Amino acid sequence: MDFLSDPRFSGIERFENKLWLSSPTMHGDEQKWVDDAITTNWVSTVGANINEVEKQIAEYVGVKYAVALSAGTAALHLATKLAGEKLYGQARTDEGTLAGHRVFCSDVTFDASINPVAYEDGEAVFIDTEYDTWNMCPKALEKAFELYPDVKLVVIAHLYGTPGKMEELKKICDAHGALIVEDAAESLGAKYKLNGKWVDTGTIGNYNCISFNGNKIITGSSGGMFLTDSLEDANKVRKWSTQSRENAPWYQHEEIGYNYRMSNIIAGIVRGQIPYLDQHIAQKKAIYDRYKEGLKDLPLKMNPFDAEKSVPNFWLSCCIIDQDAMAPHVRGENNELWTHEAGKSSPGEILAALSAFNAEGRPIWKPMHMQPIYRTHAFITENGNGRGNSNAYIVGWGVDVGADIFRRGLCLPSDNKMTAEQQDRVLEIIHRCFM
Ligand SMILES: Cc1ncc(COP(=O)(O)O)c(C=O)c1O
Repeated sequence: MDFLSDPRFSGIERFENKLWLSSPTMHGDEQKWVDDAITTNWVSTVGANINEVEKQIAEYVGVKYAVALSAGTAALHLATKLAGEKLYGQARTDEGTLAGHRVFCSDVTFDASINPVAYEDGEAVFIDTEYDTWNMCPKALEKAFELYPDVKLVVIAHLYGTPGKMEELKKICDAHGALIVEDAAESLGAKYKLNGKWVDTGTIGNYNCISFNGNKIITGSSGGMFLTDSLEDANKVRKWSTQSRENAPWYQHEEIGYNYRMSNIIAGIVRGQIPYLDQHIAQKKAIYDRYKEGLKDLPLKMNPFDAEKSVPNFWLSCCIIDQDAMAPHVRGENNELWTHEAGKSSPGEILAALSAFNAEGRPIWKPMHMQPIYRTHAFITENGNGRGNSNAYIVGWGVDVGADIFRRGLCLPSDNKMTAEQQDRVLEIIHRCFM
């Protein structure tokens, strides 16, 4: 479809400069700390910027220790390995710590949340999502423990900056003696009321991770952190991240190591960004609020959150189209087909329209249980086994909340530099899609 010449979109101008989903926002201080690293010659994985960002982030989120790493993925890998070692002991050199063990995992998330289970030779079992926050469903988790009572580890992500139902999830994990790896990569700065006390995401699990990837709420261009109150765990992760070097005059190794430490240059960028974290959150919230107001006359809803128990960081604004306003839209593995119907639209159409006008949206993260690589892994819904529920002789195929949110939802341009005028134009494009 040629949106630019379609009369439905007449009068709307294409954005001259691309409107991004969520791009880095530099403020100037970053340059100062990077220059400081270079002029003092501390450009490797030791230096004042690293020390400072570890201190500042630990203070901000409210943990005793933060370990700066090369990526959120590295943090998740070491967090998962640490959990595996705690539960099942030190692994053989050629085997992961989770070999022979299942791990319950968030399903609608970025694959970096849960790939570390495979890095450690474990088997991910995906837990369905709930509609209230688009995060792991406590009822499905409870069901999963009924089916697999031996599981001792649960990886929980907070999608798009919205905290999941951590109180319920944690209670279930505690009742089954299971540990939690908390993936707060997308939710740095989001708050959650846990048992009546407000805490930051990234402090709730037994092993906690954040990311400074280029699209996150603040960035180091890359980078991540492991967050903990345990000095022992912090020291272990720091050791593993620097090739597990022992105290000897030569390179001596008692355990497998990784090159996962953050560089002092990257830390300089993060150091320049930290003072602007709250400002970025406020800008993202304003974007979310404007979408909510501007879309309220359309048959769709914004990505929801529990206003009593959580304050998201509003990293990405998303929406989900009402079922009866969905125009035909089918997806294959690598491509899709959609068509327009008056008064209706689809994620495919809206994303294509935004793209034609030079604005970037994105489909909802495709659920892990639908990914080709994980198709053979178990998937548990609140009704039990989520696989093999269709039947040639019975209509319907049970609940699959993640698949439904993926099918009807989409991520909207959420760049914190987007002006109100630009956002109005995005709103207009979305409205015209439903004409
Ligand atoms: C939920 C989630 N987990 C983990 C990651 C991985 O972080 P990184 O890109 O810093 O490795 C990301 C994003 O990149 C993410 O969105």
